[in-house]
Amino acid sequence: STEQRVNDLLGRMTLKEKVGQMTQYVGLKHMQGLSGVNQLDDIENHHPDRDFYPGLDISSIKTKIRNGEIGSLLLVKGLDEANYVQQLATESRLKIPLLIGEDAIHGHAMYVGATVFPTPLAMASSFDTALVKKVARATAKEMRLTGYHWTFSPNVDVARDARWGRTGETFGEDPFLVGEMGMAMVAGYQQNLKENGVLSCLKHFVAGSQPLNGLNFAPMDVSRRTLEEVWFPPFEKSIKAGAKTVMAAHQDLNGVPCHLNDYLLTDILRDRWGFDGFVVSDWNDVFRLQTLHRVAEDKEAAAALSVNAGLDMNMHGPGFFESVIKNVKNGTIELNRIDKAVKEILRMKFELGLFEKVLVDDDNEKKLLDSSSKELALEAALKSMVLLENKNNVLPLDTKKYKNIFISGPNANDQTLLGDWAVNQPDINVVTILEGVQNAFDESNITYYECGNHKNISDQDLQVVKQKALEADLSIIAVGDNSLRSDMNNRTNGENSDRADIRLFGRQLELIKAAHASGKPVIVVLVIGKPTAIPWIKNNIDGVLVAWEPGQYGGTAVADILLGNYNPSGKLPVSFPQSSGQLPTYYNHRPSANFRRYNDESTGALYDFGYGLNYSKVVFENLSVEDKIMKDQPIRINVNVRNGGPLPVEQSVLLFFRDNYSSVTTPVKSLLAFQKIMLDVGETKEVSFEIPFGSLALLNKDMVRTVEKGEFTFMIEDLKTSAKY
Ligand code: IFM
Repeated sequence: STEQRVNDLLGRMTLKEKVGQMTQYVGLKHMQGLSGVNQLDDIENHHPDRDFYPGLDISSIKTKIRNGEIGSLLLVKGLDEANYVQQLATESRLKIPLLIGEDAIHGHAMYVGATVFPTPLAMASSFDTALVKKVARATAKEMRLTGYHWTFSPNVDVARDARWGRTGETFGEDPFLVGEMGMAMVAGYQQNLKENGVLSCLKHFVAGSQPLNGLNFAPMDVSRRTLEEVWFPPFEKSIKAGAKTVMAAHQDLNGVPCHLNDYLLTDILRDRWGFDGFVVSDWNDVFRLQTLHRVAEDKEAAAALSVNAGLDMNMHGPGFFESVIKNVKNGTIELNRIDKAVKEILRMKFELGLFEKVLVDDDNEKKLLDSSSKELALEAALKSMVLLENKNNVLPLDTKKYKNIFISGPNANDQTLLGDWAVNQPDINVVTILEGVQNAFDESNITYYECGNHKNISDQDLQVVKQKALEADLSIIAVGDNSLRSDMNNRTNGENSDRADIRLFGRQLELIKAAHASGKPVIVVLVIGKPTAIPWIKNNIDGVLVAWEPGQYGGTAVADILLGNYNPSGKLPVSFPQSSGQLPTYYNHRPSANFRRYNDESTGALYDFGYGLNYSKVVFENLSVEDKIMKDQPIRINVNVRNGGPLPVEQSVLLFFRDNYSSVTTPVKSLLAFQKIMLDVGETKEVSFEIPFGSLALLNKDMVRTVEKGEFTFMIEDLKTSAKY
C-alpha cells in the first residue's frame, strides 16, 4: 500500500534527505533570469552576473538536487526543464522525484502555448460549478503533459477590498460562492491523480484579502466571529472536498503571522478539519518572520517557529534547509515533526504516480491547446461576461443600423485579456477585442485607432477618439486594467500591484467621455481584474459589458455577445462600489451598515452582487417554501422561471435568505444556493432547491452554531417568501 511504501522510504532516509523533501526552490532557468521555454542549453551555463541570490546559482541548485536536498521546484520553465531536473533527481541516492509546482490559477497560463481560461473572478460570474470543474480538469491535463504536478490554486480568499490587486484571483465576496467554486476546482484538479490530475493548493490561509490598507501583506485584524463566518468556510469546504495542500498567508492575523500560527496551521486545519495533506509557505515568508514581521531574531528561529506551528514545506529561499537541520540537531524541532511533514509530502508523490513515471514525452507540447480546450476557453469566456448596461436596447448591435464602427482603448488590441499569472502567448493563440470584432462583424466597416496604454493617454488621443467617434455610427471603447507580468512598468493591477483608487486608471474615463461627446452611441467594454468605480459610465454610457480578464478567446466572446450570438449570462460575484471611500462594500453586511448616509455621495453599491442583464425578458414567479421548517429536515423552495424571449437564456437562479430576528446580528441577505438553467424562448421551468437545515444556522453569543427559532425569509430576484421554524 501507499502507506507501506511511504514508511519504507522514510525508514531509509537520512535527516538531510528528509529535510530536503521539505525544501522548495525556484527552477534553474528562473534562477538565471531565462524566460524562454527553449533555453535548455543555457541551463548548462552559469551566468554569475545573474545569480538569483549571491552564491545561489544554477550549479548549486543542481548539486542540491543530486544530493537529495531539494524536494520540489516552482517556476520551472517548460517541459525540457521539467525533464532535465527530474533526471538530476534520479541521480540522487534514493531517486525521489521532484514535485513541480506552478501558479496555474486559470489554466496552465504561465506556460507558453497552453490554454488561458478566464481569471477566477471572471469564472465565478458564471455561477457554474460544472464549468469551473471542467476548466480545472483541462488545466490539470495540460500541466501533467508538460511535467507539472501541483497548482497553487484555488485561491479561496473572500474578496473584500477591491484596492487589493489580487481580487481577480478570488471567486468574489460571498463565502458560500467561494466555497462552492473552490470545491469544484479541487475536484477537477485532483481527479485521476495518478494519470493526469494535479494537487490543488488552497490559499492563502487565512484572511489576507481584506488587508487593512488594501496593500498585499498588510496586517489583518479579524474577530473570531468573522473568521468563522467569512474566512474559514471556503477553506473548510474545500478541505472536506479533498484538497491536498494549503498555503499559509503572507500577513499577520490579529498580531500573529500566519506562518507561525499554530492555532491556524494545527488546531484549525488538522485537529478540527482533519486536513491530512501538507502546508507550504508562501514565497520567502518563513524568513519574513524575521525580516518583515520581526517576530524571530534569525533564520533558525523563524524556521523553528513555522515548522513547529505546522508548516511542512518552505517555498523558496536559501537557509531553510540548513536552519531546520540545526534545529533538529539542537532539539528545537523534534524528529517526529519532520517525519510527519515528510510522510505527507512523499505520500503525494506516490499518489501522483511519480515513482512509476516522471518524465514526460518530448513532443507533448503539441497536445496543448487542443480543440476541446479551445472550445472550453471560449465557453468559459462567454459565460463569465456580465452585461451592466443596455440603455435603449443598443445591444445586441444592429449591424444594419451601425455600419461604421469605431474601436479604440488601451485594452482593445493586446494581451491584457489574459490577466495576471499568465505569460504572453503567441499572437496566433489570442483573439483580441479588435480581432474578435473584425472577425465577427462581417458587413461592418471597422476603424481602429491605437491610443496610448493605460498610463499614457495623450491629449491627441482624446481628440482623435472624439473625431473618429463622430465619423462612425457607433464606438466600442475597451478600457480597464493591465495585470500582465510581462509589462511590469505599465501594470495597473495584479499581485503586488494594489491601488489606492479604484476608478479607471489614468485618463481612461476621459477617453470614454471623448467618444461620448460625439453624441453617437458608445459601448464600453471593461477588461478589469476587480470591481471598478464607474458612476459616470453607469449614468451616461448606453452599453457596458464587463469582460473581466477573459483569457485568450476573450475577443471572440466580446464580439459574440455584442452581436447577440450569445445571450450574456454572467452575474457579478462582487459588488461594485461607487468610490474607493465606500470600501469595503459587500452585499451580505449586517443590518446597520447603511443606517446612516454619506453626506457627499449616495449610499450603497453602484452594482450589487448578483447583478447582470441579458437580452431576454426573464420572469420569476411563484416563489414558495413549505409553511414550517422542521429540525434537521431539508427545506424545499421552488420558483418558476419563464423566458419571455426573444433569445434563449442561460439563467443563474440565486437563492438568498435572511434570519428575520436573531440573538446576534446577521446579514441582511446571504446566498444560500444557486442553480444554472437553460431556457428556450417561451419556456418555463420550475427550479427546486433542497436546503440543508444547518444552512440557516448562526453563531450565537456563546459561538455555538445553531438554528434559532423564528421566521426566515427567502429571496430570489425581487420575490420573497417566509417560513417559520
Ligand atoms: O502562489 C503564489 C502566492 O499566491 C503568492 N506568492 C508567490 C506564490 C508562488 O508564485
